[in-house]
Amino acid sequence: MKLVMMSAALSLGAGMAMAQDADLVKQGAYVARLGDCMACHTAPGGAPYAGGLPIKSDLGTIYATNITPDKEAGIGSYSEEDFAKAVRKGVTPDGTHLYPAMPYPSYAKMTDADIKALYAYIMQDVEPVAEKAPETHLGFPFNQRWGMALWNLAFSESVGFTPDPKLSDAENRGKYIVEGAGHCGSCHTPRGIGMQEKAYDNGSDDYLAGGDLNGWSVPSLRADADSGIGVAGWTDQEIVDYLAMGRNDKAAVGGEMTSVIEHSTSHMTDDDLASVAAYLKTMAPSGDLVSLKPAADAQATIATLTAAKDLTNGERVYIDNCGACHFVTGKGGKDIFPELDGASIVNAPSATGLVHTILAGAKTPSVEKAPSVNLMPGFAGRLSDQDVADLATFLRGAWTNNAGKVSTSDVASVRATLAQD
Ligand code: HEC
Ligand code: HEC
Ligand code: HEC
Repeated sequence: MKLVMMSAALSLGAGMAMAQDADLVKQGAYVARLGDCMACHTAPGGAPYAGGLPIKSDLGTIYATNITPDKEAGIGSYSEEDFAKAVRKGVTPDGTHLYPAMPYPSYAKMTDADIKALYAYIMQDVEPVAEKAPETHLGFPFNQRWGMALWNLAFSESVGFTPDPKLSDAENRGKYIVEGAGHCGSCHTPRGIGMQEKAYDNGSDDYLAGGDLNGWSVPSLRADADSGIGVAGWTDQEIVDYLAMGRNDKAAVGGEMTSVIEHSTSHMTDDDLASVAAYLKTMAPSGDLVSLKPAADAQATIATLTAAKDLTNGERVYIDNCGACHFVTGKGGKDIFPELDGASIVNAPSATGLVHTILAGAKTPSVEKAPSVNLMPGFAGRLSDQDVADLATFLRGAWTNNAGKVSTSDVASVRATLAQD
């Protein structure tokens, strides 16, 4: 009798441990979504987390490694401590210093609890893959990995997360996600002389003030304003919708943000997305701000396009190719055709994103909350460099937009990158 009870107690204990593990693994899977580990550690068409994605950086091409639990090709032999050190400090068990293409300066802010869960998820739930990712070979001096130790000393803070006492609990949760696992600053914060992000938290006006990704301007996320370009003119709900669905009643996602939404933010809980929006709304816009033109100027553009007399080439190209979806108002159609008036992509310091969208088109990702794909056709085959330059120059000065001219050589260089894709 005693024996039976003991074994019952034992199996009950084991059952509880398994249930706890299952919860931990589930939490870890969610942390992996917050951190978007999949995006870099999976090659197109490749096995999840098996690495091999080539990442273009200013240092050269860097390959993401295999982080499946395979003992030889992956990280299966890493202890939890080894794993924490690689993810938060960028140092592997053999002392190798990782390149900051792996966003460890942001991951440094992840809590022990989240790292523990992430480790449990990768070790217990990710399929091991026995194939090594291609090795990274950079030119001198960047092939000298010890140099990264100096880089860390000079440029990366690698400090843990501290809540800001001025913020509410929800805003601090948003701060934790944005600055930590979400590593939003790795694209949205301007870079300094050492290619480091100029700031890693809201203590500086440079934080999330807008960056540059291979020539494509990345908009500012500092949203504490009632009007202005991009998020400065969005409500909390518009920010939440964009992150959940890749579209809202003003804008649609393009470029590298599409993958962030598909693999990371569209999987965040409603509460977490609301926290992210609340946090972005605590930071006032900074830097060289574009001031949009007055509403009367928008009326003037609408009048010209409606009258359709003596149009410039840019205006004519717009009416013939774009007006059917984006309308003479530049306001598009709610939730389907995004606004071109006041949009970040139209007013960006660099017109690369705008020109790329005109040439290659764009499509919204299909996500749980918005499965339909909204498609914009590409015009590379139909419009000459001159037409696209005239069109983009028109758009950047149309309605309330207020940005610089675009030349045919700007268009030609974007067209050349399309040919490589
Ligand atoms: C923006 C791209 C990017 C994201 C996002 C990313 N990684 Fe990485 N990671 C890399 C690259 C690139 C390397 C290899 C760097 C090198 O070779 O120096 C790397 C290396 C690693 C390593 C060291 C592997 C080894 O072979 O020792 C670990 C562990 C790791 N990443 C885990 C993660 C986890 C966990 C996440 C999500 C929380 C994540 N990474 C998200 C790009 C990324
Ligand atoms: C891999 C780089 C990258 C990362 C990481 C990234 N973003 Fe973005 N983000 C972009 C780019 C590029 C755009 C511009 C998209 C376009 O031109 O349509 C953008 C646009 C946005 C916009 C729309 C702003 C506007 O004015 O139109 C929001 C909101 C946004 N990102 C939020 C976030 C948040 C929150 C995170 C972190 C969870 C994040 N991003 C991480 C690259 C990135
Ligand atoms: C058939 C309808 C259609 C036509 C024609 C069209 N577009 Fe679009 N456009 C869309 C849709 C749908 C999107 C949203 C897709 C996305 O960005 O993911 C979009 C997105 C855009 C964006 C990105 C907006 C943002 O919020 O980031 C720009 C810029 C743009 N279009 C400009 C143009 C220009 C210029 C033309 C004419 C050469 C044009 N479009 C023609 C449907 C259209």
